[in-house]
Amino acid sequence: MPQWGLDNRGKEYKKGRCLLDLFREARRMLNARNLLQSNVGKKVVMAVTGLILVAFVIGHVAGNLLVFAGPSALNGYSHFLKSSNEVLWAVRLVLLTAVLLHIGSAYGLTVAANAARPIGYGRKEPQAATWASRTIRYGGVLLLLFIVFHLLHFTAGVIQPAPFSETDVYRNVVGSFTVPWVVAIYLVAMVALGMHLYHGAWAAFRTLSLRSPSTTPMKRTIATGVAFVVWLGFTSIPLAVLAGLVR
Ligand code: HEM
Repeated sequence: MPQWGLDNRGKEYKKGRCLLDLFREARRMLNARNLLQSNVGKKVVMAVTGLILVAFVIGHVAGNLLVFAGPSALNGYSHFLKSSNEVLWAVRLVLLTAVLLHIGSAYGLTVAANAARPIGYGRKEPQAATWASRTIRYGGVLLLLFIVFHLLHFTAGVIQPAPFSETDVYRNVVGSFTVPWVVAIYLVAMVALGMHLYHGAWAAFRTLSLRSPSTTPMKRTIATGVAFVVWLGFTSIPLAVLAGLVR
């Protein structure tokens, strides 16, 4: 009995048992448009882009902690990052693409979930839901607003709670975090980031099958560790400045 499959352009073709069919099937599955159109594809895109952003955030918190080593350490690090315009813009492009794909697939999955169940569950007893997982979309929107604020604040110098210098990043950080409303914004955003990482990193590991479904689905050692360390690292900076420990 011949079997029929769909090729890359959606045309039917007769399946045999040859390598060419396997190749066609693999190409169909890996086709970028097909990948983004399926829910599994969107989840994979979310997971991969999420992990890219987690890697950036870990590097960023490590770099920022140099504020505790003094002005020359932090400013030296900042100058090093900006020493090659090509590399700087390549990294920015990767981050921007990752953020856009991450948001795009989150939006697509939300629309698909709402379409699949226009009337909500009468009674919901999820297997492994936490407050972090239930609020992840709102937290994501909050983080997006924070990132826009943050770029206007420290990168572009458009929002200036304290005098801004293109070259003295240390002064920008210390000057800004002596202003209580700025500290408040950062503290709230870091809680949102911690919760986003707590649920997001765990979900990414599960999507990519780096963490198999377990009999204790609430156990999330790696995700909890990453979220806690990143939250603590970032939060310590505004608090240390506000307390006068870094000046
Ligand atoms: C206490 C927390 C944070 C501090 C003190 C901080 C500090 C900074 C500073 C000083 C810059 C400018 C660097 C330079 O001009 O050399 C910067 C850039 C940036 N930060 Fe943060 N940051 C914090 C949290 C975050 C978080 C949570 C994110 C993302 C979720 C983030 C994403 C970025 C991005 C995307 C840039 C732009 C990098 C570029 O120039 O391309 N930051 N941050």
